[in-house]
Amino acid sequence: MSNAYSSAAGGAMDKAAAARGLWSSRLAFILAATGSAVGLGNIWKFPYITGENGGGAFVLVYLLCIAAVGLPIMMAEVLIGRRGGHSPVNSMRAITNQEGLKPAWRWVAGIGVLAGFLILSFYSVIGGWAISYVGTAATGQLAGQSAESIGAIFSGLLGDPIKLLLWHTVFMALVMIVVARGVRSGLERAVSILMPALFVLLLIVVGYAMTTGHFGQAVSFLFQPDFSKLTTSGVLVALGHAFFTLSLGMGIMMAYGSYLPKNISIAKTSVAVSLMDTVVALLAGLAIFPIVFANGLEPGAGPGLIFQTLPLAFGQMPMGSLFGTLFFVLLIFAAWTSGISLLEPLVEWLEEQKGMNRTLSTLGAGIACWLLGIASILSLNLWSDVAPLGMFAMFEGKTIFDLLDFLTANILLPLGGLLVAVFVGWFLSRKALEEELSMSPAVFTAWYRVLRYFTPVAVAIVFIYNLV
Ligand code: TRP
Repeated sequence: MSNAYSSAAGGAMDKAAAARGLWSSRLAFILAATGSAVGLGNIWKFPYITGENGGGAFVLVYLLCIAAVGLPIMMAEVLIGRRGGHSPVNSMRAITNQEGLKPAWRWVAGIGVLAGFLILSFYSVIGGWAISYVGTAATGQLAGQSAESIGAIFSGLLGDPIKLLLWHTVFMALVMIVVARGVRSGLERAVSILMPALFVLLLIVVGYAMTTGHFGQAVSFLFQPDFSKLTTSGVLVALGHAFFTLSLGMGIMMAYGSYLPKNISIAKTSVAVSLMDTVVALLAGLAIFPIVFANGLEPGAGPGLIFQTLPLAFGQMPMGSLFGTLFFVLLIFAAWTSGISLLEPLVEWLEEQKGMNRTLSTLGAGIACWLLGIASILSLNLWSDVAPLGMFAMFEGKTIFDLLDFLTANILLPLGGLLVAVFVGWFLSRKALEEELSMSPAVFTAWYRVLRYFTPVAVAIVFIYNLV
């Protein structure tokens, strides 16, 4: 391909993309995509689901899902976005037109818009926890505390709906401000400074974790598979989390891919983003589990795990209040750049479909999401016994918060990803794919086979196993 705008995807569409502005470089796309991918999923969710699912075997399945399901689908999503050159729904529409396929395919991106909305509603509540902990760490409340009092601080927060609402509101407002102004201004710069900083801080905590005397135990917990601890639902959780952590299955990689210049390799950038995401998750695991074991805590403690372990570490290490404050500030930023990418597809859709302007669509989408978030807040305290779909065995005992998490990560995202894999693997012309991917024939064939045969079958099997 000779230059950035001469692909066979059609000159008109490329001009549209040019008018919307492209990422300034390959690095900029990597940064934005990494900003979306690296978030609470890596630092909050990965350790706690690993703890709940017994460690090593779960981690192994998760890594397999990243490599054999997540990566091929990420490439497929970026490809759709770059070829379509619009918001996810309209990129799908453009491609179906161009390839003579049924317009109904665009609803694949529609599922994504819904998933993003549902995820952000509870994601923002957890982002609020991180905001709350900035204050807790900065005022020295963690210094020298025992595991019990750290636990009490956390239960105190969960039991206080007003405080949770306040921080949830602050988080949603942060997300809405950036989305209303247009995602690309500022995002590149923010991510390029904050991601490396978060990385360094994680390394510091891992360094501290090595001094606890339980590092070896944590390493074997994370990397020595014990398959007797792996359940079929654990496999579903690992698969769902591969989608969640890579921000797949809802079209955000399509949205960001639409700004990717034509001369940049989709495969290499996708590998880079997946690798960075995985490294951050594994580092979080290495930071947290030594602390869990050193303090006799429960690895399966659930969603509160990092808020009950990391504060202990910050309470004990030198300059812990400073590092703790910094850590939670960076966690907020990681969550922020992800939160932005959860709202963006819905806002783009409202703009393009309903003809609303950016401010109005951001306000509408953001406020609706904020309202739904209140249900998750209440399910942590006043409604902790309410299980709306509890009459179905698979949803037994799941609160609203648990349900939203389960429905999105374990059902909507894999379903979206499955449809993307089928669409790109079976419906797009091979010529279109070769044009977009322009990689060596051997690698292309490997990707194509995995996407056509392995990915959809794997997702379908895991699904059927768990639903039946
Ligand atoms: N990947 C983010 C995380 O790990 C969450 C996220 C952002 C996401 N955008 C997404 C998940 C789109 C699914 C789809 O925290």
